[in-house]
Amino acid sequence: MKKILVINGPNINMLGLREPEVYGTKTYDDLLAFIGVAADEAGVEVKCFQSNSEGAIVDAIQQAYGIYDGIVINPAAYTHTSIAIPDALKAVGIPAVEVHLSDINRREAYRRISFTSEACYNTISGKGFDGYRMALFVFDP
Ligand code: DQA
Repeated sequence: MKKILVINGPNINMLGLREPEVYGTKTYDDLLAFIGVAADEAGVEVKCFQSNSEGAIVDAIQQAYGIYDGIVINPAAYTHTSIAIPDALKAVGIPAVEVHLSDINRREAYRRISFTSEACYNTISGKGFDGYRMALFVFDP
């Protein structure tokens, strides 16, 4: 069974409270439960990690080397600012899929730039929780 690391960036732990008109009313714990069910359906093993810190996300990507077969990452605001995160993804060479709950192409102009996407096999944006499910299915069992 493939091992997939799901990484969520800053403020994803605030789901439910955070801008519900954009991100919905479900919480981060709801997302974890959803990902657990989706992983079973996709036939993959998942571990979820969330951090508000760019360095901690870089550390998690580096530490995934040799352990995980794939990464699903929602870098949140770091999508639009971080070079270190895509550099880390390229360094470890683990196949990665980028996910966004909201459609980053239909919001503020600054959200249209994703530095992460060039280090990812695919980007799924605007599908809510389902985006994580779709991303897990990208990895063949
Ligand atoms: C987000 C979109 C980002 O622009 C934003 O900064 C987030 C969440 C999303 O999942 O839609 O924090 O990555």
